[in-house]
Amino acid sequence: MSSCPFLAMQDRLRLTGRPKPLPLAQSAKTFLQLLQKEKGAPHPTPQRLRKVSGKIKKTGTYSLTLPELRYGCRLAWRNSVRCIGRFFWTKLDVLDARRATTEEGIYEACLHHLRHATHQGAIRSTVTVFAPADSKGHGPRIWNYQLSRYAGYRNRKKQVLGDPAEADFTDLCLHLGWRPPKKRTAFDLLPIVISLPGKKPRLFPPPKKETLEVSIRHPDSSCLDSLHLRWVALPVVSNMRLEIGGISFPAAPFSGWYMETEIGARNFADENRYNLLPEVARRLRLDTSRTSTLWKDRALVELNRAVLDSFTKVGVRMIDHHSASASHLRFENEESKKGRQVNGRWDWLIPPLSGSLSRLWNRTYDPTEYSPNFLPQKRPY
Ligand code: ARG
Repeated sequence: MSSCPFLAMQDRLRLTGRPKPLPLAQSAKTFLQLLQKEKGAPHPTPQRLRKVSGKIKKTGTYSLTLPELRYGCRLAWRNSVRCIGRFFWTKLDVLDARRATTEEGIYEACLHHLRHATHQGAIRSTVTVFAPADSKGHGPRIWNYQLSRYAGYRNRKKQVLGDPAEADFTDLCLHLGWRPPKKRTAFDLLPIVISLPGKKPRLFPPPKKETLEVSIRHPDSSCLDSLHLRWVALPVVSNMRLEIGGISFPAAPFSGWYMETEIGARNFADENRYNLLPEVARRLRLDTSRTSTLWKDRALVELNRAVLDSFTKVGVRMIDHHSASASHLRFENEESKKGRQVNGRWDWLIPPLSGSLSRLWNRTYDPTEYSPNFLPQKRPY
């Protein structure tokens, strides 16, 4: 392994700011050579390198071996500039579903992902990898942002019951023929929408049995009980593209455990999401007449306490934002010992609650993204 940072940087494959993707042969070679330098990675033999380049010349593509895929997924996590949870990057379960070729098969593998990763609350970081895209970039797609999310129903006055972030997707599901529960609530699980290249999307039932949910209550008063708040235990992001060695996987749902602020400071608190702070403040009997009473800040802290305490009490793994920041710092130190630079997005890594208390607050990060990685892709709808 090279200890010269300049050399180490050069043989990584940059993804940010490239107008055109590199030729596949070059991306493949860079990836296989990257593996060579990693302790604990499968080290491709010269014969494997020749075989891949021959395969690309002959067929225009190649496929990753299972050990390459496994390590590639872990590298994609390690390279994820928005993720504060990367200390755990070597502990990722990779479920190989590249041979699932029907919509039903893909749906079944999604349900399996939910069961495997949820693990009765002892959450295991997991990614399920479906078939790669063809040379035109077409492959299987999961249209949901996450496998378990709550519907956002628009009414005539353009108000939303449920999660406003899912209002467009909910409209789409209804259009595709989804029949929501007779009595609609703010926490109805959405169906799963799957498409294969060149085919119409197909709708599958909400993963009710497979989705563990947690009721949210305040630890020292019953003041939040009548809001009947709940959230899913496992966030499975299903709309990003996984890229490894020039191969693109447009369906590769991945999940870890939650940090409490994702739910308490964003999903529940954002004005364009569940917007619960005014309601919570009222129940806590805070003075909401002026912003200068800091009622929003106080309600936010209590809401986050409620989320953390509720998850912890029922034994669903969750990390608080202080521990998460500390773990990222540990990750940075381990990486630096190995002569690798940690890139990051400061605006994503700083928790949305008590930002300046985070151990990461006074640090700076280079936001450049490298391959392998999880990348945004165009919405199919
Ligand atoms: N922030 C998203 C949510 O609230 C989840 C993103 C992934 N988070 C995670 N801890 N793996 O649902």
